[in-house]
Amino acid sequence: MTQRNRTRVLFVCLGNICRSPTAHGVFRDRVAAAGLADRIEVDSAGTGDWHVGKPPDARARAAAAARGCDIGDLRARQVAAADLQAFDYVLAMDADNLAVLERLARESADARARVALFGDYSGRHPGAAVPDPYFGGEDGFERVLDLIEDAAEGLLAEIRADLERDPG
Ligand code: 4NP
Repeated sequence: MTQRNRTRVLFVCLGNICRSPTAHGVFRDRVAAAGLADRIEVDSAGTGDWHVGKPPDARARAAAAARGCDIGDLRARQVAAADLQAFDYVLAMDADNLAVLERLARESADARARVALFGDYSGRHPGAAVPDPYFGGEDGFERVLDLIEDAAEGLLAEIRADLERDPG
């Protein structure tokens, strides 16, 4: 049997311990609930390397868990030029992350990923950045989840429509 086409999505923030693992976990759960776990692969990474190998920040884990999303299995890694070749979507949490990814894409001859702001898929806050919650209070993590849940819905709708056009 031939391998069915898979869509690969990478979420990127600065440290890969707050925003992008939250997006990873929320989107992974949405994909599973839609019965698309065999068609959509989800990952996350950071532009920085300070937290490589670490689990998500305890505040991010707690906020996600309170909404029924377990991200405790995730471990931080740094984004690499090869990700721009391997993934279909590489989605930045804010304009700083986006600038790093656009530079990596320019420097990588075989880059093919669609590089964009994750907030571009948000219905309620189109184009909004997901602000860095690391140095703030717990309400920052709630805002991160609100923005991510909204954009996750729009992203899943787009990928699902693509997959229906191309049943693989
Ligand atoms: P994240 O948050 O980019 O959402 O994972 C941050 C985590 C750590 C740091 C900054 C932002 N830091 O400076 O260590």
